Amino acid sequence: MTKQTLILAVETSCDETSVSVIADGHNILSNSVLSQIESHKRFGGVVPEVASRHHVENMTLMIEDALQTAQVTMDDIDAVAVTQGPGLIGALLVGVNAAKALAFAHNKPLIPVHHIAGHIYANQLTNELKFPLMALIVSGGHTELVLMRDHLDFEVIGETRDDAVGEAYDKVARTIGLPYPGGPHVDKLAAQGSDTYDFPRVWLEPDSFDFSFSGLKSAVINKLHNLKQKGETPIPENVATSFQSSVVEVLVGKAIRACEIYNVKQLIVAGGVASNRGLRAELERATQSKGITLSIPEPKLCTDNAAMIGAVAYHLYQQGVFADMSLNGKSNMFL
Ligand code: KG4
Ligand code: ZN
Repeated sequence: MTKQTLILAVETSCDETSVSVIADGHNILSNSVLSQIESHKRFGGVVPEVASRHHVENMTLMIEDALQTAQVTMDDIDAVAVTQGPGLIGALLVGVNAAKALAFAHNKPLIPVHHIAGHIYANQLTNELKFPLMALIVSGGHTELVLMRDHLDFEVIGETRDDAVGEAYDKVARTIGLPYPGGPHVDKLAAQGSDTYDFPRVWLEPDSFDFSFSGLKSAVINKLHNLKQKGETPIPENVATSFQSSVVEVLVGKAIRACEIYNVKQLIVAGGVASNRGLRAELERATQSKGITLSIPEPKLCTDNAAMIGAVAYHLYQQGVFADMSLNGKSNMFL
């Protein structure tokens, strides 16, 4: 039997400190995730300085935890991978420096990974990727449609022109008085209401795969103000359902059209919003009716975690894509 490739991966691009040990890019031996949500909640969003400080406090603990859970030592590890970007620069730097120190001290190759590639490859942790494929990325910072013809071959065919979908969820949630991060709360409320408020569906130009969510967000905020001025009380469940119906209709409509036009074998979904129950249900219905194979990671692999970084790193390792000790974090980074 050939020896498995063991990668230790580090993710600190936003508010999760995560370290994972992963075998052959899909077998998770450990995936330790420490969320800072409780700490950022009182500010209504992630405070970059606070995030960096928590990453520093927790990094060595998470490395120890991941190695211990996987029952391996650094001697067993073949390479160290880390999220290079995009993300909060101070947060990224903590992960990059920890990974560099580990790689240097134990004489292991260092692999830089793109965060969005990580979200896409979270699918590899449960399903084999079949090319060509279309990836719908829906997170707090990104909304993109990405065509992949092979491993590590990314072509962005559509992206948001303003707010990311997760950002729109969080802002709408705040407007209806829900805590941060609002996405999961809106999702829960949406399951209890009806689509009564008639919010716009923003399709942009007929052939465009780009997205825009700021108009929808403003429509929700304006509606709530108007109702208040008239002395009427909005029904939060119906606001959530109406908002989510608009988001889901546009996301699913564009994703399905992209699958048909590019004639792909598989639609894969990635990012925090991929755990949205309304979106998952509609994607299942639409792909089934069109005969398209759908892959969505389980919810805990949709949000930021290091296992997804290790899944990409496995292919970079095979191709010999390594960084030297000059590696730096990048807040903006193209796929
Ligand atoms: O991918 P992610 O963990 O972090 C980024 O890289 O951005 O995504 C976080 C985003 C947040 O905006 C959060 O509100 C949203 O994903 N989210 C959801 C749900 N779960 C998380 N949005 C809608 N429905 C959900 N169930
Ligand atoms: Zn993310």
